[in-house]
Amino acid sequence: MRNISRLLVFKIGGTAKLPAEPALADLPLDPPPSTAAPEVIAVGQVKYGRYCAVCHAPGAVGSTVLPDLRRAGSLESAAAWSAVVHDGVLKNNGMASFKGSLSKEEIEAIRAYVISRANADKAIEAGRKVARR
Ligand code: HEC
Repeated sequence: MRNISRLLVFKIGGTAKLPAEPALADLPLDPPPSTAAPEVIAVGQVKYGRYCAVCHAPGAVGSTVLPDLRRAGSLESAAAWSAVVHDGVLKNNGMASFKGSLSKEEIEAIRAYVISRANADKAIEAGRKVARR
């Protein structure tokens, strides 16, 4: 789900009605294959829970407001992920650098964890589609 930002202003006796919600198709769930070792993914899971879950939702399922990391473009490459999480290229948008708290290896382990979560959810979605046929 994506956030739908709208400003509502109320007037006593007003009769206006809310316009219909715009149809927002979910971004596709199309992660890179999960190839990291289980120990790496386990480290990523612990660090994700400690540093990321508060904003990006526990279990990386995506909050309704902040980016769903399973669907993030920067999941595709270690460099793009590191630019955001280590270097803080999105810090002016509210996504701080974590270089003071996490090593580069831990940041990459978190990416491995999110990739693994995304692949697990993609498998569930694929199963649902088969079941519906
Ligand atoms: C205080 C809240 C907060 C925390 C904690 C946080 N983030 Fe973010 N994150 C954000 C916000 C806000 C954005 C959206 C920035 C934007 O719109 O450009 C974001 C965006 C991102 C993006 C870019 C998504 C994309 O579409 O490419 C990545 C990757 C990311 N965060 C990873 C992480 C990781 C990994 C952690 C834990 C180490 C983390 N974030 C912790 C708030 C947070």
